[in-house]
Amino acid sequence: MKKCLFPVAGYGTRFLPATKSMPKEMLPIVNKPLVQYGVEEAIQAGLTDIAFVTGRGKRAIADHFDISYELEHQIAGTSKESYLDSIRNVINSGTFSMTRQREMKGLGHAILTGEVLVGREDAFGVILSDDLCQNNGGDGVMQQMVKLYKQFRCSIVAVMEVPSDEVDKYGVIVGTELNKGLFRVESMVEKPPVDEAPSNLAVIGRYILTPDIFDILRDTKPGKNGEIQITDALNRQAADGCVMAYKFKGRRFDCGSVPGFVEATNFVFEHFYDQ
Ligand code: UTP
Repeated sequence: MKKCLFPVAGYGTRFLPATKSMPKEMLPIVNKPLVQYGVEEAIQAGLTDIAFVTGRGKRAIADHFDISYELEHQIAGTSKESYLDSIRNVINSGTFSMTRQREMKGLGHAILTGEVLVGREDAFGVILSDDLCQNNGGDGVMQQMVKLYKQFRCSIVAVMEVPSDEVDKYGVIVGTELNKGLFRVESMVEKPPVDEAPSNLAVIGRYILTPDIFDILRDTKPGKNGEIQITDALNRQAADGCVMAYKFKGRRFDCGSVPGFVEATNFVFEHFYDQ
């Protein structure tokens, strides 16, 4: 497994006006854009072929993962050069490719759009970079999932327990616990009403998907909000017993919402900022 898909085509309306002409994924948590945290997590997991599904107005993401000659020239040999270390390491560790999702038809559709980049040879990771995950210097969430994939060879979703009055913001799983924190998924429901949710185990923005997901997605009709939902496609795999849910180690911040973004900023500043 070498590939990781980043669906980054969404509008980020919850951050308007900041996201009017700037991609949400480029908003910084302290001094690093959100998407770089996600890419670093993928590379740590050995997923070095990074594939972005972008949209209009997202060119800054492509530029971020390329060399900026003027900037390099300007600060070469000065004390400021070290500020570029983290992004230089990322650029030197991976390959970066992009394709565009022309219409925002949902996460499932964005993943299907990425088929041209990730191909069908092997399973691939999916990271939604607006979910920032931290595991205090230990294995990142994607690395934990890759280890499990090697054992089970089926799709895996990362889950966490959420307060029961918040389940309506997530996809929620029903499953049988095999080992502590590891479930075989029987079914999944997208954003269930609070009083109808079958559990409080919510799916966050980390997936490993087997390539048969593409045929299923092609066949999946638009669901909630007229969008093609990855949850509907995963439900089909789950019916064949081919989806695991994993209660990951670490913390997740919902940086797609303003309160989660502020919480992540404070956390990273306190624990990781060292310049
Ligand atoms: P969200 O719905 O949380 O992100 O999608 P958004 O649309 O950017 O944000 P708001 O709700 O308007 O504030 C989850 C992830 O899926 C991607 C988004 O970029 C985000 O990373 N996505 C969603 C796509 O790439 N394409 C889509 O059609 C929908």
